[in-house]
Amino acid sequence: MPRLQPPAFVVRTLARQLGGPSGRLGAVVARMLNKGNRPTITAAVDALDLGGRETVADIGFGGGYGLDLLLKAVPDGVVHGVEPSADMLTRAARNHHEELAVARLQLHEAAMQSLPLASGLLDGWISLNTIYFVDDLGPAFDELARVLAPTGRGVLGVADPAWLAAQPVARHGFTVRPVAEVVARLERSGLTVEQRQVTGSRPTAGAAPYHLLVCTTGRPA
Ligand SMILES: C[S@@+](CC[C@H](N)C(=O)[O-])C[C@H]1O[C@@H](n2cnc3c(N)ncnc32)[C@H](O)[C@@H]1O
Repeated sequence: MPRLQPPAFVVRTLARQLGGPSGRLGAVVARMLNKGNRPTITAAVDALDLGGRETVADIGFGGGYGLDLLLKAVPDGVVHGVEPSADMLTRAARNHHEELAVARLQLHEAAMQSLPLASGLLDGWISLNTIYFVDDLGPAFDELARVLAPTGRGVLGVADPAWLAAQPVARHGFTVRPVAEVVARLERSGLTVEQRQVTGSRPTAGAAPYHLLVCTTGRPA
């Protein structure tokens, strides 16, 4: 039996939503992201190896599951959430009004290419499934390197490029890059990268691994 493909407009709409969830459909996509990406977001936060007092960020947090985990991981620290989607920011603010009120959570409407954060502020950041929507990685990775403290650690998460390229949504506005190209670009921004693989989130990912690129600055503390 041939596999049924969703109509092209459905695929295009989903692709657009994944790159910037908004409106009623955005709320559905946010829940879908939180459920589907739970294992890889959890693995990324675990890879930060946090002690509980750090200042950390989720850059491109989408549905906000990463913010939930980071807030739990740093009960005496501060979490920054950076997102270009106004609706995802509103959703995060609604879910975390208590932490916002005491500035334990700080939300920023911004993109990775221009982070409204002081240099060296972050002990850790995660950013998963975001760079598919970034045309030029140079300015974005320079920013990720700039905001990381000398002893900090960042975790960039990307799906297996072969698997992602085969997904119908990826034909609409996604840039799929080989992992080696992403690593080389992170290194050009001065980061040292350790590559780890975890089991992909989605059942359709089959045996395709998910890539966590664990970044450190190599700068003296
Ligand atoms: C596929 S969702 C991933 C959300 C979440 N990180 C996860 O893995 O579930 C991509 C998210 O990246 C955000 N995004 C798009 N372009 C971005 C950029 N230039 N900088 C930061 N985030 C961006 C989108 O608004 C969206 O929330």
